[in-house]
Amino acid sequence: MVKNIAVIRGDGIGPEIISEALKVLDKVAALYGHTFNYTDVDMGGCAIDKYGDPLPEHELNKCLSSDSVLLGAVGGDKWNDVPGNMRPEKGLLRLRAGMGVYSNNRPAKIWRQLSDASPLKKSIVDEGIDFIIVRELIGGIYFGEHKTEGDTAVDVLRYSESEIERIGRIGFETARKRGKKLCSVEKSNVLDSSRLWKKVMHRLSAEYPDVELSDMLVDNCAMQIVKNPAQFDVIVTENMFGDILSDEASMITGSIGMIPSSSLGATSCGLYEPIHGSAPDIAGKDIANPVGAILSAAMMLRFSFDMENEATAIENAVSKYLDSGLRTADIMSEGMTLVGCSKCGDLICDNLRKE
Ligand code: IPM
Ligand code: MG
Repeated sequence: MVKNIAVIRGDGIGPEIISEALKVLDKVAALYGHTFNYTDVDMGGCAIDKYGDPLPEHELNKCLSSDSVLLGAVGGDKWNDVPGNMRPEKGLLRLRAGMGVYSNNRPAKIWRQLSDASPLKKSIVDEGIDFIIVRELIGGIYFGEHKTEGDTAVDVLRYSESEIERIGRIGFETARKRGKKLCSVEKSNVLDSSRLWKKVMHRLSAEYPDVELSDMLVDNCAMQIVKNPAQFDVIVTENMFGDILSDEASMITGSIGMIPSSSLGATSCGLYEPIHGSAPDIAGKDIANPVGAILSAAMMLRFSFDMENEATAIENAVSKYLDSGLRTADIMSEGMTLVGCSKCGDLICDNLRKE
């Protein structure tokens, strides 16, 4: 198959981790006889430096005409003082909205090789950590009106029933393919938008009788994720709650550097990115963990290109790499051997076998 991939290297460690993901994709292409064409897209701080805009129209259009988009990370202290609507992160938000990718899937799964990298007690980790956060990605407070007037600032949190319904369906369908348990997370004891969220989830639940729906307030959920993560199968939640809970969920699996994500909308053209940020403090030192980016590429193969075997081949190669006791600094532990970002990518490529 021939696939055209828009590649956004971005800022900080973005370019280093994406180079490793492309190495792995090239190896997959060679093994399976595919052709992956890459088109570089400037977004984030580097686009501000080049064009004075975090995502100019012509760069967004490259993404819209691709088969899918692979993204490293954007942002950094260098652009902290630019106005809010011109920040590097604004480029990312415009991309998500422009692509219409309302459904963000963030797995929190502990690799058995990394159980000692989790900050949680062994007895909790041993119960198992394997759940998915389905995060609404193009609505809510991120996309409401933002304004500052004098000493007062306002951000508007708005959801319509149809926006809740389409992400709710993804939650139910994701749960249906897994453990059939869906936890809807909101703040319905305070927010109107959350009361609407809860109402729509319960209405939808009638169409998915095989899925057990539960409700949880977001503050309680933050606590339950560290207290008893094994209770979760699929969590569905709004944009900002999902942002916060997914950082927490990633950390209990050992490192945010290991976690990929997919974002999809109405078409098969998806956006794939590790959930970590641009980590400017470690950029250019060849010490970042490229596994989140590599696994994001695997998700792209599975969800957008229907290449299940190829995706599994990448995941197995990552598992073999962990088996061999090699670790980047973020997941380093006693008795293991330290490797850099580029070496990690090479080793995963060496372990790739046709499934
Ligand atoms: C994420 C990030 C982004 C978000 C930022 C960079 C805008 O934290 O993907 O989780 O808040 O969505
Ligand atoms: Mg985040």
